[in-house]
Amino acid sequence: MSEGLPTVLVVAVALVDADGRVLIAQRPEGKQLAGLWEFPGGKVEAGERPEAALIRELREELGIDVAEACLAPFVFASHAYDSFHLLMPLYLCRRWSGVVRNREHAALKWVRPNQLADFPMPPADEPLVAWLRDLL
Ligand code: CDP
Repeated sequence: MSEGLPTVLVVAVALVDADGRVLIAQRPEGKQLAGLWEFPGGKVEAGERPEAALIRELREELGIDVAEACLAPFVFASHAYDSFHLLMPLYLCRRWSGVVRNREHAALKWVRPNQLADFPMPPADEPLVAWLRDLL
């Protein structure tokens, strides 16, 4: 942890479809890191359980419902940005209800694990790519 910087907890997900492709989402104009491709998710609010935050974010951003039991073990990303330190667990999820639709991002893309490295990502997300490639 970097001294003096506030810590921000963001939860993110690798949604994996029946063909083994992973969903990535392009950050929209006007936001920090616009144009980069991230694993969907968002900030955990005070008093909120991380899994509940992820379920809420996926409903808001993608219009899907995920059962907590479908959120599998995760790996942590940790990165010091200029003004905060990001801690970001990545969950794996293969089952959801509803159809994935783009509600908040510039674009969505389903990509094979070995193609993830072709998409520029925020520095916090980048180390997760190798982990996913090995796992999937
Ligand atoms: O919507 P807002 O930008 O306030 O929050 P967010 O995008 O969900 O996450 C807060 C910050 O965490 C972003 O500004 C990024 O710097 C970082 N982040 C990241 O590095 N990778 C992600 N997959 C999501 C967020």
